[in-house]
Amino acid sequence: MEVEIREVTAEEWPEYVRAEHIPFGIQLGDAEMKYQSQRYGAWNALAAFEEGRIVATAGDWDMRLTVPGGSDVHAPGVTAVGVLPTHRRQGLLTALMRRQLDDFRGRGEAVATLLAAESVIYGRFGYGWATTSMAAELDRVHGAFRDDVAPTGELQLLDKTEATKVLPDVFEQARRRQPGEVSRPEGWWEQHLRDPEWARDGASELFHVVCRMGDEAGFVDYRLKENWDDNIPQYTLRVDQLIASSAPVRAALWQYCLDVDLVAHIRFENLPVQEPMRWTLRDPRRLRATTLADWLWVRLVDVPRALEARRYRAADRLVLDVVDAFLPENEACYELDAGPDGARCRKTNAAPDLRLSVAELGSAYLGGVPMTSLAAAGRVEELTAGALAKADLVFGADVPPWCSTDF
Ligand SMILES: CC(C)(COP(=O)(O)OP(=O)(O)OC[C@H]1O[C@@H](n2cnc3c(N)ncnc32)[C@H](O)[C@@H]1OP(=O)(O)O)[C@@H](O)C(=O)NCCC(=O)NCCS
Repeated sequence: MEVEIREVTAEEWPEYVRAEHIPFGIQLGDAEMKYQSQRYGAWNALAAFEEGRIVATAGDWDMRLTVPGGSDVHAPGVTAVGVLPTHRRQGLLTALMRRQLDDFRGRGEAVATLLAAESVIYGRFGYGWATTSMAAELDRVHGAFRDDVAPTGELQLLDKTEATKVLPDVFEQARRRQPGEVSRPEGWWEQHLRDPEWARDGASELFHVVCRMGDEAGFVDYRLKENWDDNIPQYTLRVDQLIASSAPVRAALWQYCLDVDLVAHIRFENLPVQEPMRWTLRDPRRLRATTLADWLWVRLVDVPRALEARRYRAADRLVLDVVDAFLPENEACYELDAGPDGARCRKTNAAPDLRLSVAELGSAYLGGVPMTSLAAAGRVEELTAGALAKADLVFGADVPPWCSTDF
């Protein structure tokens, strides 16, 4: 049957929202539909129509991505991807990805990002796993800090109205220092702070605590899950996100979480793998990683512009033979003249040092996945001896990349 792919109009938006949730097993009730129906324009929406009915959806948020070296690049955040169960494996996702990447090229985007429901889906479209998230648990009884750490900070519990005013700016300050983090559009904050009961998984609504230390700031959003065991309080404090612009602010927010009365267990939903606070704990092994998983996936939509948008750890020259089966206009040999002050990247006829697909380059882009690891898996080919080691040095990031934003 004929399928048309195009942007969604305001009138079609409620149908789009309904269709977007079905592949995730969610049928929106009347009240939720009413709320969601007002959100037209929160992100750019694309859909596949069959005989006028929406059978597949995709979209992209207007976001910026912080890249190594302290700058950022406009990078649409792909969202709302779903295909009705009646229409799966008929090429609809592939058609939406093709249209979306063509749109991104047309809009002059250099980079795109997404979070994947399953890690098997997006590599074929040129996206690479670029940041890793760590879910972790800590029993409060083992949460003591080393003696030389005594965090202090001005803490304030915010109500929803205050959180709406305060948190976006505090986040943005921290975001600009964290490679791999993305900016959060207004519609993102609205959805996050709305915190509907069905999204709480039996725990309390979100508490928001901001911490300030001079010019530095941060916040923690958390829930409490009540539990009394034979009259003994055994609550779990679930950290939805903990954002800080400096290490002392981070320590003060951790200390706050560890001090909340009635709590026996702390659960962090998404920490950096290199969580610095591990080294603050007297008993660091007690911070137990329960899940290590992909978080942000990166797609270089325009290879030379993307590579020029970041800075590099060491000055050197590399020739990369980039394979891009899904966006052949990207496929070429590129000479990357990179350094701490920026880079120049041009097509070249010179002999390549490394051969890799655009997805592997996406993985290495933020400095979080070493080319040597990808090469050991047969995913990067070293054509000049020593080029892999050089690439790891050049692409490595001073601050390990991490993304906390769920979109
Ligand atoms: C994942 C999903 C979007 C795929 O859509 P689709 O239209 O079936 O995908 P396509 O038909 O274009 O598949 C393209 C290729 O990817 C493969 N593929 C797609 N989704 C896959 C999955 N979840 N697991 C394994 N392979 C998958 C297909 O088998 C096909 O491979 P082939 O080219 O070798 O035949 C759809 O199944 C879905 O909506 N799933 C539930 C919600 C979800 O996970 N959304 C993604 C949010 S990030």
